[in-house]
This record gives sequence, structure tokens and C-alpha cells, in this order.
Amino acid sequence: MPGGEAPAHNAPVTARQGAGEGARVRLRGVHRKFPGGVVALDGVELEVAAGEFVALLGPSGCGKSTLLRLVAGLDLPQEGTVQVTGAGGRLAYVFQDPHLLPWRSVQGNVELPLELAGVGRGPRREAAAAALAQVGLTDARTRYPAQLSGGMRMRASLARALVTDPRLLLLDEPFAALDELTRARLDEELYELWRRRGMTVLFVTHSLGEAVFLAQRVVVLSRRPARVVGELQVGLAGRREPALRTTAPFNDTVRRLLAMLQEGEVG
Ligand SMILES: Nc1ncnc2c1ncn2[C@@H]1O[C@H](COP(=O)(O)OP(=O)(O)OP(=O)(O)O)[C@@H](O)[C@H]1O
Ligand SMILES: [Mg+2]
Repeated sequence: MPGGEAPAHNAPVTARQGAGEGARVRLRGVHRKFPGGVVALDGVELEVAAGEFVALLGPSGCGKSTLLRLVAGLDLPQEGTVQVTGAGGRLAYVFQDPHLLPWRSVQGNVELPLELAGVGRGPRREAAAAALAQVGLTDARTRYPAQLSGGMRMRASLARALVTDPRLLLLDEPFAALDELTRARLDEELYELWRRRGMTVLFVTHSLGEAVFLAQRVVVLSRRPARVVGELQVGLAGRREPALRTTAPFNDTVRRLLAMLQEGEVG
């Protein structure tokens, strides 16, 4: 893969920086109330270090997506501050739904962010090819979204996020709609991508097992309005591999997290 020079903003995946080039995120006293009076977030404090993988866990409807949208700059808080530093505009968002354009091939969908950023055809092709290879979709690049399985669509969505070589990757329950096996496999792939590339990841989920498998740290939110009610350094030794899911330390960690989540439900 050529290591050519590319503009820092929206640089294609082939010109990526070394590992550890992640962005930092800092939320202070964040309060978000919607018109009509629903308070989604109330005094959220959160800090994510460069290159860290953090899972955000919380009950359904507590304000997880709201929090992610604020970090992405898609929404603003009424009170408090949301700071993202070191991203240089390289932020990617993966929604729960793959949101692919049905009239574009897989390759065309993955190239889209670069096209919008004005990257030329050659570098665009090359970056898309690299991103597709990373998610194992090379052979499906000429297919259309309707011709893909749910897992392949999510892979395409992930490739579209990776193509800009993000320094901050935000994922909102990306694999929740998939069957257990596909979900586990995609978790493993995402973990490997993070390990190789060192971007900062903020991953929203309501699955305890997924949070423990993927993250270095899990932040637990209360039911609405969301506040941070606990956090856990996962601290499992070694690389995250499928076999980890059946070990005692893994299950102990899941249990501790469940206790925190239940506390958040009550308190
Ligand atoms: N644009 C909006 N206008 C009004 N209310 C909203 C808006 N967006 C979200 N809400 C409300 O804010 C609360 C938090 O929503 P949010 O989508 O952040 O929760 P969530 O934790 O992501 O839920 P889920 O687990 O179901 O994805 C909900 O009660 C929701 O109905
Ligand atoms: Mg949500």
C-alpha cells in the first residue's frame, strides 16, 4: 500500500497516520433538554483519552444517541461544554441503521465521503479499496445494498466511516440488529481495526458482553436523564479473542457491570 502524502483533512485511508493519533473528547456538565420538556442529559461528565476505546452503556432511551450526537457536533447542549480536540475534522459516525444509498454500489457508497470532500478519483478508488479490504468486502464492491446481507451492509457502513481515516470514530449500536454470531464477528473485526489503527472510539451499546469484549473502559449511564453513574476499567489481560467470552474474568466483569447498571436504574 503506497504511503503517499495527502491533505490532513479527510485524508484517504492509504495516507493514514501512525497509531495513537486519536482525538480527545471532554464533556463538562452537559445538559440537553428537548422542546416539550424531555431532559435527555443532565450534568454529564465524560473524558476520553486519545486512542482510547470507550463503551457507553445505558438503558434504552436514556440519552446515549443524544450524547453521541453532541460529541459529533450534530446537536448542541443548553448547558455545559463539549470539546473534541485533535480530530482535525476527521470524525466518522456509524449509525445503528447502515444508511447506504441504494442506487450506489458498495464501492460508490464507501467513496462518498471522499467525493464530498473533493478528493480526486484515483485516490478515492484507492482509499475505498483499502477500506473495503479492511472489512472483508472486496469481493462485494460492485454489488448494491439490496444485494447484501445485514452484516455486509454494516460492514459497508463501517468501511464508509473508515475511508476518511477518522481520528474519532463514533458508533451508535452499530451491530444491534444483527444475529449473535455476525455481531460477535463484527465486534472482533472492529476490535482488530482499533488495535491496528489507534483511533479514539466511542461505542454506544446496551449489550454488557459487547461492551466488555470491545472496550478498555465502560462508562455506565443512568436512566433518563442520563448521568454517568459508574465506570469500569475492563483491564482484561491480553488481546480480545473469541475465547475470552467464556472465561471467568470476562464473566466477572460483565456481572460487575450489570450491578452498576442496576444501580443506575434505581438511583
Ligand atoms: N429531537 C428530539 N426531540 C425530542 N425528544 C427527543 C429528541 N431526540 C431524543 N429525544 C428524547 O430524548 C430521550 C433520549 O433519547 P436518545 O435517543 O438519546 O436515547 P437512547 O439512549 O439513544 O435510546 P435507545 O437505547 O432507544 O437508542 C428519549 O426520551 C427521546 O425520546
Ligand atoms: Mg439510541
